[in-house]
Amino acid sequence: MKRACVIGWPIEHSRSPLIHGYWLKHYGIAGSYSKEAVRPEDVRSFLGSLQENGFVGCNVTVPHKETAFALADEKDASAVAVSAANTLWIDDGKLCAANTDTYGFMTYLRASVPDWDNADAPVSVLGAGGAARAIVYGFLEAGVEEVRVFNRTRDRAEALARDFGPRVKVYDWDERGLHSRKCAVMVNTTTIGMNGVGSLGIDFHTFDTSCVVCDIVYVPLQTELIVRALGRGLRVVDGLGMLLHQAVPGFEKWFGVRPEVTPGLWDVLLADIEAATC
Ligand code: ATR
Repeated sequence: MKRACVIGWPIEHSRSPLIHGYWLKHYGIAGSYSKEAVRPEDVRSFLGSLQENGFVGCNVTVPHKETAFALADEKDASAVAVSAANTLWIDDGKLCAANTDTYGFMTYLRASVPDWDNADAPVSVLGAGGAARAIVYGFLEAGVEEVRVFNRTRDRAEALARDFGPRVKVYDWDERGLHSRKCAVMVNTTTIGMNGVGSLGIDFHTFDTSCVVCDIVYVPLQTELIVRALGRGLRVVDGLGMLLHQAVPGFEKWFGVRPEVTPGLWDVLLADIEAATC
């Protein structure tokens, strides 16, 4: 039986077992996917003996993504761009690493709004953490000419821009509304709005109606940002789709079947999120 898992510290909050468990059952695969609480000081030994312990690979969540990246023998382009890995597998004895957040975000954006880049306008990214890096990389790979980054801590945005080059422009956090108004896409990658806490304070009434508003926060599914954007009649992209799609490449690597993100899978996750929010 093939075994995979997700490692983190803490790990209880992870919804990955729901996703992979659903697919294992749906495709009738004799495999398992567990949560493994791994302390920071134990990551190296855990990953060093991954295969020995019977795992074909794993997902990696906070705070181990950078360590996993550093320990991997082979890394895909997105992992290199982000300097962090969320998906690991063993290939010919080698530890291979990918960052599937770029794939998850871009796949769901394209599926939700196929003409998102018709406007030929800049895109706007709020935040400068690991998720922001994965998304900035996705936009640059997609050929976007200008990616505007806004972060509370400006230095972090400057560092991101240095890493990604001149197509990334840094703006002050306080200008996030003003300089996103004419953007093709605006994405929130910060934790603001998570569990209903905080407000990004964006007034969409001055925004072009063609702007697509994305939030990577998915608890609640309808974040304050999404609700405000819908109020203006803008097209929106929620954060749950990215979570579901980023899981696809890992499952395929480990279990040999490319899984589909279906309404049945959505229902399972939506029910879980609803239970968490009431
Ligand atoms: P991840 O790797 O998941 O992207 P992270 O590295 O912790 O997570 O990044 C969280 C992001 O949310 C950062 O951009 C952070 O801004 P700072 O770099 O200034 O810390 C942003 N963030 C979190 N809380 C915030 C708040 N109250 N106001 C503005 N930005 C916030």
